[in-house]
Amino acid sequence: MKDFSSLKTPAIARAGATLSEVATPALMLDLDAFESNLQFMASLARRHGVALRPHAKAHKSTMISRQQIALGAVGVCCQKLSEAYPFVRAGIDSIHISNEFVGSDKVAMAVELAGLIKLSVCVDHVAQVDAIGKAASAVGVTIIVMPEVDVGHGRCGVDSNEALAALVDRMAAYPGLRFGGLQAYNGGIQHLATWEQRRLEAARSADRVAQYIRFLEARGAACPVVSGAGTGTVEFDVASGVYTEMQPGSYIFLDGHYGSNEWAGDYTPKHGLFILSTIMSTAKQHKAVCDVGLKGVAVDSGLPRVRAGEYEDKLRYVSANDEHGILQVAADDMRDHLGNRVMLIPGHCDPTCNLYDQFVCFRGDVVEAIWDIDARGLSY
Ligand SMILES: Cc1ncc(COP(=O)(O)O)c(C=O)c1O
Repeated sequence: MKDFSSLKTPAIARAGATLSEVATPALMLDLDAFESNLQFMASLARRHGVALRPHAKAHKSTMISRQQIALGAVGVCCQKLSEAYPFVRAGIDSIHISNEFVGSDKVAMAVELAGLIKLSVCVDHVAQVDAIGKAASAVGVTIIVMPEVDVGHGRCGVDSNEALAALVDRMAAYPGLRFGGLQAYNGGIQHLATWEQRRLEAARSADRVAQYIRFLEARGAACPVVSGAGTGTVEFDVASGVYTEMQPGSYIFLDGHYGSNEWAGDYTPKHGLFILSTIMSTAKQHKAVCDVGLKGVAVDSGLPRVRAGEYEDKLRYVSANDEHGILQVAADDMRDHLGNRVMLIPGHCDPTCNLYDQFVCFRGDVVEAIWDIDARGLSY
């Protein structure tokens, strides 16, 4: 038998190439838009004297986190413990797991990470406090614990003073635990369409957080950190006087879902994340087929949109198969367009990034760099 074991898969792109040379489908990062979004959030946090701890679940890339930290971010948020490992390897020494976890495998990861970096975690049940507290205390590491309060999201998090008090009181039993403040993220309001709706609901969430802070203070427990906020409400949360730390993730990309929000603040974020696709079949009238399907774009927040430009008014992405995207065609005949490129705006950045190994970073028509999505697939 012939030995082909040294056969290399061709790279998706190389720095210096033009966009027409990139293999498709490719996850594209427009560096001008990305850098502008990056700068805006860093300066917003600075102006308000609030810490920025961007969520790494959006991009899963240590290269991007390092740039966020270089602009002043205090560390990163991860949603899963395994997701944190590449960021620790990359030298990021402060990670907040903004999510609850259960099970001895997860607790073991938390203890290992806490032995290496400053680690904070979320809880909403005393059994989680016990499990993490016993394990941390047994090996002599400190884990910062931030109970999550539900401020309207209706997902995880306690929703009463009594439940919060039970968590804080239980922590005191464990030398390996330190009360770090509150996790208070309201994901349910981030995509409310109008600026005014988001302003009103963010104010409601901030009132709920303030009530929990006052309750704890009355019991003698000050909250050193109150962490929350996503891209859709960060301009309200940062000015609320309640949050000390912001966790936005998607702001660097502005995906299609966020693109349909009304933006009326200091800054309008820019689309920075795209999928480059190729028209691979024009055999049918009023239809073209591109090479981006469900394996190349998440559709939970809507189908991808065609970016402004050559094809904006001619093509509409109307359905996704595994490897195919069906494009409805305004023109009668697309036969001459076979092989042409179409830039798509994905509906939801987080699960889309998790489908790719690399960002192809470009400026204008030129590929500037390839960045690994090194926490891709680490969701346990
Ligand atoms: C706990 C938590 N914090 C922050 C974020 C970041 O939100 P966004 O990507 O909308 O800015 C998320 C996103 O789902 C989240 O779950």
